[in-house]
Amino acid sequence: MRHFLTLKDYTKKEILEIVDLALAIKKEQKAKKPHPYLAGQTLAMIFEKSSTRTRVSFETGMFQLGGHALFLSNRDIHLGRGEPVKDTARVISSMCDMVMIRTFEHSMLEEFAQFSSVPVINGLTDSYHPVQLIADYMTMVECGRHENPIVAYIGDGNNMTHSWLMLAAKLGFELRVATPKGYECDPHIVENALMLASESGAKISFTHDPKVAVLGATVITTDTWISMGQEEEKAQRLQDFTGYIVDEALMAIADPYAIFLHCLPAYRGVEVSEAVLEGDQSVIFQEAENRLHGQKGLMVWLDRHR
Ligand code: CP
Ligand code: NVA
Repeated sequence: MRHFLTLKDYTKKEILEIVDLALAIKKEQKAKKPHPYLAGQTLAMIFEKSSTRTRVSFETGMFQLGGHALFLSNRDIHLGRGEPVKDTARVISSMCDMVMIRTFEHSMLEEFAQFSSVPVINGLTDSYHPVQLIADYMTMVECGRHENPIVAYIGDGNNMTHSWLMLAAKLGFELRVATPKGYECDPHIVENALMLASESGAKISFTHDPKVAVLGATVITTDTWISMGQEEEKAQRLQDFTGYIVDEALMAIADPYAIFLHCLPAYRGVEVSEAVLEGDQSVIFQEAENRLHGQKGLMVWLDRHR
């Protein structure tokens, strides 16, 4: 049985298998062909943070696969009142076929997985957001931007950046990360990614200059400067990230055929300009829709590897 906690635990071959399965299931759905690969199964979804895309895509995806999804916020279950993670994991996994968790500390997810008898999926932690990267890579494939891409990530060294590091390190492509001073990625995750990159041939670089990262890049991406749980740092962060907005001037130095990705929610005029977000190079809504298809592929893959 496999969990899906970070891309670090997956080989290139496995990541590409999940993406291919997701693309195949997307085709079946678009052709209105029933695809009840998880008939009769239940997915428990534990949310300790807000969500639009993750909740709607997992719940809808499970329904389309013939199964059922349970939305469990920590206001509703005893986990939020202090029932131990290891007890919650054993109880829920004795009744459900898969569990998705969105939480703060990555260690909570790891503890849950350790005590779960069914596959556990990371629906975002403070450290990683791997399901988003399945959708992002699917979108790159659909846009024909997956062969030798140069990906530029501009902004906060956060869960999205860490997930890009792992994707690049596993698949072996070029990733340039531009963060302000003081907002660099977790050094331990960087060390891991660089070690994996030396095996895969990925070219990973870090800079404090967004222009250096974007010059000639074929995929430009960013994320909010204020992640969930960092609301109190908002004023300081807005000040410290000055100059990191992805706007038309920055896009102008990218490859002319570059695409723009954003996991959403996006803050217009903050990390990205309205013109870039709504412009011709932006594929953000295709990317958001691919959360549905990507996770269907992932859940079917996990079910086939029990
Ligand atoms: N991108 C993403 O995970 O969105 P939600 O927070 O809406 O789930
Ligand atoms: N970095 C963001 C991603 C939201 C999908 C956060 O953690 O809030």
